[in-house]
Amino acid sequence: MDTSVSDLTLEEKASLTSGASFWFTKPIERVGVPELMLTDGPHGLRKQRVGGDHLGLGDSVPATCFPPAVALGSSWDPEVARRVGEAMGTEAAIEDVAVLLGPGINIKRSPLCGRNFEYLSEDPVVSGVLGTAIVSGIQSRGVGSSLKHFAANNQESDRMRVSSDIDARPLREIYLRGFQRVVEDAQPWTVMCSYNRINGVYASEDPWLLTQVLRDEWGFDGLVVSDWGAVNDRVAGLAAGLDLEMPSSDGRTDAQVVAAVRGGELDEAVVDVAAGRALELVRKASGSTAADITGPLDADAHHALARDAASRSIVLLKNDGDLLPLAADTSVAVIGAFATDPRYQGAGSSQINPTRLDVALDEIRRIATAAVTAAAGFSIEADAADEQQARLRDEAVAAASAADVAVLFLGLPARLESEGFDRDDIDLPAVQRQLVDAVVEANPRTVVVLSNGGVVALPFADSVPALVEGWLLGQAGGGAIADVLYGVVSPSGKLAETIPVRIEDTPAYLDFPGEFSHVRYGEGLFVGYRWYDARRLPVAFPFGHGLSYTTFAYGDLSAQVRGDGDVEVTVEVTNTGSRAGREVVQVYTSLPAGRVQRPVRELKAFASVELDAGERRTVTLIVRRADLAYWDVRFDRWVVEGGDYVVDVAASSRDVRGTLSLPVTGDDVSLPLTRESSIEEALADPGAGPVLREALGRSMGEGVDEMIAMVGSLPLGRMGMFGGAADETESLLERVLGAAGDVQS
Ligand code: BGC
Repeated sequence: MDTSVSDLTLEEKASLTSGASFWFTKPIERVGVPELMLTDGPHGLRKQRVGGDHLGLGDSVPATCFPPAVALGSSWDPEVARRVGEAMGTEAAIEDVAVLLGPGINIKRSPLCGRNFEYLSEDPVVSGVLGTAIVSGIQSRGVGSSLKHFAANNQESDRMRVSSDIDARPLREIYLRGFQRVVEDAQPWTVMCSYNRINGVYASEDPWLLTQVLRDEWGFDGLVVSDWGAVNDRVAGLAAGLDLEMPSSDGRTDAQVVAAVRGGELDEAVVDVAAGRALELVRKASGSTAADITGPLDADAHHALARDAASRSIVLLKNDGDLLPLAADTSVAVIGAFATDPRYQGAGSSQINPTRLDVALDEIRRIATAAVTAAAGFSIEADAADEQQARLRDEAVAAASAADVAVLFLGLPARLESEGFDRDDIDLPAVQRQLVDAVVEANPRTVVVLSNGGVVALPFADSVPALVEGWLLGQAGGGAIADVLYGVVSPSGKLAETIPVRIEDTPAYLDFPGEFSHVRYGEGLFVGYRWYDARRLPVAFPFGHGLSYTTFAYGDLSAQVRGDGDVEVTVEVTNTGSRAGREVVQVYTSLPAGRVQRPVRELKAFASVELDAGERRTVTLIVRRADLAYWDVRFDRWVVEGGDYVVDVAASSRDVRGTLSLPVTGDDVSLPLTRESSIEEALADPGAGPVLREALGRSMGEGVDEMIAMVGSLPLGRMGMFGGAADETESLLERVLGAAGDVQS
């Protein structure tokens, strides 16, 4: 396609800035511009059959339902995330879909967010690294991705209007950091702006967000598409950098754009830019290798990949007395409705029509050689215990007592979590909590397997010897669970979000979800583990935690600043157990003597290492210099502060295995000394300091230090208010300012 913007009329250009229908852009037949299909996403392809319902939630063509982000995030495995991306790209290409709407990389600010199952982590490095892998995978197939939801869309309550009111540092360091990484490293073809406002401005019409940050600072050169229905004021949006409105406005907003140009309120050049980006997207899609990818879909291969990815995403939280893995000849009572009726994905726009569905009970029976009995234990929809639930519980207790081991499948019913609304609490239904107690009493050898998109409180964590966090694992989750229970696979996932003890302990508890369409991010930088660590709160299971069937020892550790400024950390890891396994090594840093507020430790890098029993390897991790930076509000830029950084190598955020101190040179940034500078700042200045100290010493004599302690915050320009002849103070000021070198930031 060689059409350019100059070939088009104003009306045609405007027509490219909004959709033709729910999933298609507009073609321009006169000049041979084809339509494009954009569709969900993010953990599989949701391509609606022709004639689908308007909301787009109805029937779609069968596609592989890969593990949703909540699970894939726990894999901490960019390799597997990339392979999943490639497979999704292949499925999209077979179905002639130009852009797959995902991944979603918003930060899990509160466990109550109803859409947390669609997001990867509470940490921007995990989200950024895995998001990059998924985007690269999808796009390697000649299909575009849409990085979403840009930005600060961290709740579902009032999501179409709410303003996320966030200070500059958390906005940059927590909420935008992952987006920045994916944009810079993977160049997604499109970025999807979110529904909400940020500090009062709709993301869909925010020039700071869509142009200054995304394009000018990060170098994004793709197309910005609105979330479906996120446009508030189309003309303002276009001017701000929102290229494509989706879905269709039935020509209404195109006419507004044309009228704004004709009326002189909008520069036609703005329309040219957006239309040019739409054409560029068409060019990328029509010239891409996707055309060479034809069906039929290898559903078996993709199902096998979904199983592998799911098994790497399962987190073994607890395994007292090595209750797991189960021997094939152990008799097992499989209890819980989720064992036969799997919850494997969340509700809403991400809902895939899977090519097949593994059921855990069947998969367990495929592996076990001893008796496997089954009992429902509870009805998924039930909350409180009634007569029927009591009967189900009694049957479960009888099955548990008769078996060597009870495996209890608990989870959140679909009605409790979905796109579109948030949860009220993090509790499992009462009927399930009561069932655990009864089953453990009947058979202390009980394993609990969880199916949940958002974290749940685990009041039974102490009484149950083995706990498996199975999240929502996609269509092959049942097989993956069986693989982990029986040790076909050694578990290796780690928590990408903290499991708190109580909802009251969580960072956003007091101001989530806000009121009157404003939500204040009062916890600032202290999201997830950053909060629990700073407040020294106990947690049920910490960020980064996950056990294996083998054990790993961390040995020699070293770190050095490389020529390019990045920090290279190496550590020896040995598999000290008796079977192969994968360990996710984590690097956290802090700067205890730093000048700005900082979390106790922050994740900066991670890497997986697969080791046979007894094998030892040196693992190398790169901490990017850019990730050491904080956002400096004085300069409105990233600044790496110089000093001795603490580098922790860890198996979880609360299991540090080795620490060292590393001197890092700071960025050369400086603020000039002015009359607004404080006495303290002037005293710290190499040039001005001695001049001022000498003058203060002369006028105050012995008590000078006490005096400085008291008036150190006084701006230089106001020194005259405390006595002394005006002309003398003025001449001192001039001497001090004249002697100033620059004050180091
Ligand atoms: C969701 C997006 C999705 C779009 C299209 C919106 O409601 O927020 O994530 O891609 O619908 O289905």
